[in-house]
Amino acid sequence: MVAVLDFGSQYTHLITRRIRGLGVKAEIFDHNVSRKTLEKSSIEGIILSGGPSSVYKKNSPQIKKDILELNIPILGICYGCQLLVYSLKGLVKSGKTREYGEEIITIKKNDTIFQGLNRKEQVWFSHGDTVKKLPSGFKVLATTKNAPIAAYANLDKNIYGVQFHPEVVHTPKGNKILKNFLFRICHAKKTWKIDDIKNDLIKNLKNEIGDRKVILGVSGGVDSTVAAQLLYRAIKDNLYCVFIDTGLLRKNETNEVSGFFEKLGFGNFRKISAEDKFLSALKGIVDPEQKRKIFAKVYFQVFIDVVKKLEKKHQFHFLAQGTIYPDRVESGKTSKTSSLIKTHHNLSVPKKLGLQIIEPLKDLYKDEVRELGRSMGISEQLLGRHPFPGPGLAIRILGEITKDKIKILQEADAIFIEELKNYGYYHKVWQAFAALLPIKAVGVMGDERTYDFIVTLRAVTSRDAMTADWANLPNELLKKISSRIVNQVKGVNRVVYDISQKPPATIEYE
Ligand code: XMP
Repeated sequence: MVAVLDFGSQYTHLITRRIRGLGVKAEIFDHNVSRKTLEKSSIEGIILSGGPSSVYKKNSPQIKKDILELNIPILGICYGCQLLVYSLKGLVKSGKTREYGEEIITIKKNDTIFQGLNRKEQVWFSHGDTVKKLPSGFKVLATTKNAPIAAYANLDKNIYGVQFHPEVVHTPKGNKILKNFLFRICHAKKTWKIDDIKNDLIKNLKNEIGDRKVILGVSGGVDSTVAAQLLYRAIKDNLYCVFIDTGLLRKNETNEVSGFFEKLGFGNFRKISAEDKFLSALKGIVDPEQKRKIFAKVYFQVFIDVVKKLEKKHQFHFLAQGTIYPDRVESGKTSKTSSLIKTHHNLSVPKKLGLQIIEPLKDLYKDEVRELGRSMGISEQLLGRHPFPGPGLAIRILGEITKDKIKILQEADAIFIEELKNYGYYHKVWQAFAALLPIKAVGVMGDERTYDFIVTLRAVTSRDAMTADWANLPNELLKKISSRIVNQVKGVNRVVYDISQKPPATIEYE
């Protein structure tokens, strides 16, 4: 196992993810962790993350000195790289220019950590301070035009430092560097297997929950379904799943979701039809954040009512949620510096219920959640579904929401998705959907003038939804979709294709 010591970087989790991706168990520890704690965890290597501070500033996060004498390989990244130098009596200075973005490093010694890399490689920097003088026993491994010490090592002590970020995609050979550290330097064992994660999670859930009851709201999405399956394996019929039909789901979704859960063999699955409640609360509302807030309020009201009804017969102790790690990042929960872009409704927990929260997937990334689902026999059809926002079509109907508009959008979206699947493009994109613009345009059908809605199609490629690019779909496919929508969906006379990137746009429209 590798210990990742967190010095406050927004990429700390990403380091862990990359290591796990290479098959090695990795855990995040506070930078203040004691040597004793690490010794108890059979650590094969230690990585010090980046961080926003300056090592020589008062109150900046430091590392306990005795950890540096553990005789376990250490890799410092960015702040971690400077901290190692500072702690071992080298010199770190505030840089005149802040290095931020892509840079080329020149590798002086391509053994051990840089094995297999070219003399010049692209890397990604984000730092203000620089290493000026190395402690004795250390040598320079790489330089850039602004930083004479961009990477270093003490080969006897197995201590390495890289001033750049190998964990981000903008360092194309970053994974190779981490791989070299893990397997050439730490000789780490590949013990991070999805079956082990699954068994650990189930064991922990069993221990935590005991024979108490858990309630979970499911949406039919990957996360809540995988969370449900994990919990079911841990506590069987002490899990109660509630699925709320908001009336704002995709075409046929209600039946599909109920079908999935029936097939998975859940005894306590409740479907609640609440379409009218949502529609009347959202009547006349056009502001996106207001829609999201109202949606969340109604959702939780309906949810609370169901729980209260069920509580007449059963005593619940826990409320489970399918929150995954990126959800916490987007909502600004993991760092003081990230700003709130949208209120994701699935994160505002109803405190009124007085239940303890349980989030079995909170430290996992989407690909890990999918793999976990696969290992529990959940169908590829469900696992491969595109993400769908909590507030559903409410945030894909721009402007006021009406029953007619929902019907129009469901039909147009179903055609879009069906054709993407027919042409083999559904799994090539991260997410695709139709949205309805709040304006009408003039058209002609037969000899008649029409005055109908405009449907916009959005298909994006992305790695993690933090950034996204519009998908380059074939013209022939777009033509087919457009002509089917205009011919088959009453109330639409134009179809447009959205060619905006995130940022500055977002994936959803509201
Ligand atoms: P944006 O529009 O912020 O979307 O670029 C990023 C990803 O998040 C999904 N999304 C949501 N998911 N509840 C969710 O569970 C929400 O309220 C919500 N809003 C956006 C969106 O579909 C995309 O995949």
